[in-house]
Amino acid sequence: MTENLDTNKKSNQSENKKFFTTITYGCQMNENDSERLSGQLKSIGYEYSDKLDEADIILINTCCVRESAEKKIYGKIGELKRLKSVNPNLIIGITGCMAQKDRDELFKKAPHIDLVMGTHNVHTLVDHIKEIEESKGKVLAVWDQAERLAPNVPTVRKGQISAWVPIMYGCNNFCTYCIVPYVRGRERSRPIKDIVEEINQLGEEGFKEITLLGQNVNSYGKDSEEGDFADLLKAVDSVNNIERIRYMTSHPRDMNEKVINTIRNSKNICEQFHLPIQSGSNTILSRMNRGYTTEYYLDLVQKIRSLMPEASITTDIIVGFPGETEELFEETLAFIKKVKYDAAYTFLYSQRSGTPAATMEEQIPLAVKKARLQKLMEAQNEISLHLNKQLEHRIVEVLVEGVSKSDDNKLMGRTRTNKIVIWEKVGIEKIGQLVQVEIKTAQTWVLKGSLV
Ligand code: SAH
Ligand code: SF4
Ligand code: F3S
Repeated sequence: MTENLDTNKKSNQSENKKFFTTITYGCQMNENDSERLSGQLKSIGYEYSDKLDEADIILINTCCVRESAEKKIYGKIGELKRLKSVNPNLIIGITGCMAQKDRDELFKKAPHIDLVMGTHNVHTLVDHIKEIEESKGKVLAVWDQAERLAPNVPTVRKGQISAWVPIMYGCNNFCTYCIVPYVRGRERSRPIKDIVEEINQLGEEGFKEITLLGQNVNSYGKDSEEGDFADLLKAVDSVNNIERIRYMTSHPRDMNEKVINTIRNSKNICEQFHLPIQSGSNTILSRMNRGYTTEYYLDLVQKIRSLMPEASITTDIIVGFPGETEELFEETLAFIKKVKYDAAYTFLYSQRSGTPAATMEEQIPLAVKKARLQKLMEAQNEISLHLNKQLEHRIVEVLVEGVSKSDDNKLMGRTRTNKIVIWEKVGIEKIGQLVQVEIKTAQTWVLKGSLV
């Protein structure tokens, strides 16, 4: 393939073509929103390109869960100014959670932006693009509230094996540190019928793995007459061609025996439990408004492990929440050693203005937070390695995802418990196939083996 090095002189073929790029930050819900934004742009004749220089539309789909994410995104928005000065017709759009939060402030901070579109407006993109194309003016499209359920729009999926399927939008929990309920609105569940139809379609298209998405999936159905999360799991378990079903994220308070039993009795729902504890101290959990205690949580872990000894359990933890003393932090350290998580995603507490915790007294200095994070990660890495070592010389079922990032001769996939496995390519494996791999060496984040 020859590249046209003169970027000012586009080839005849690409002259009529219009390109778009999306840059996505944040969680899987945002990734899925980007797929729906892409689908809409494709429906009006734009093609995807990963070359920013070539794009006629650039959408940055943003996250504001922590300040570090926001800083990174503002840096990226700044970088685009250069492209706008080269191509004044370029449309730059900021979508997602930061757009929902900062609204027209974004135009003031970055005058080269053309569109600011909030989280409740994902389905209205085409109208705004047309408006901008016709008037060359700026558009602010941020609704305060979501429609109960936005209409379906075309979706362009990023992968070919795994797909995300939203089952509900929004969050009602208002954990005191968290911005998500303010930028994603109240809980809205999709009808079971729509979800099953979407997964059926994905199965027909060749997808093998589905991840059901929601900020708090165990609340599914509480806002409607649809049945609960366990009923939904049962309904999606038997969709043709789909081998594996995952879901995220579940709130420990709403996880219950009915869900655990449904997973145990299911065929395709993976034995993987991501249960964010956030802190191992009851004092902090109560200030976080999490609605459970460590004793309740340990009981839940015990139930899962007694029914499914092979299940993996992972978590999210925040260090340095206001008022977290050294003793309270030590409680978290002791807690992870007790539970023995397969993995933990650890975060420095970040003050989000508008949330109750932001104005709580006894904010923790950054240096203290960083030292605690380091200690926590070291302790967790040791536990992860220890648990992974127990898989050495065992044979595990792996869904082939593709070539390993670090070596073209190796393939990569995941176990049902969501652990990454890498092995020397034999040549008979196909992407999307289930294979058996014998684990030879286990590391903290990957298992290395050979095809059986
Ligand atoms: N709805 C999901 C995901 C929320 S955001 C859930 O409830 O688990 C993902 C993670 O980001 C959270 O689990 C939490 O650990 C972390 N997080 C949220 N707000 C934060 C903040 N202000 N500072 C640091 N971490 C935060
Ligand atoms: Fe945020 Fe809590 Fe809702 Fe999760 S459950 S999105 S942490 S408010
Ligand atoms: Fe971020 Fe919004 Fe997701 S704040 S974590 S992108 S819901």
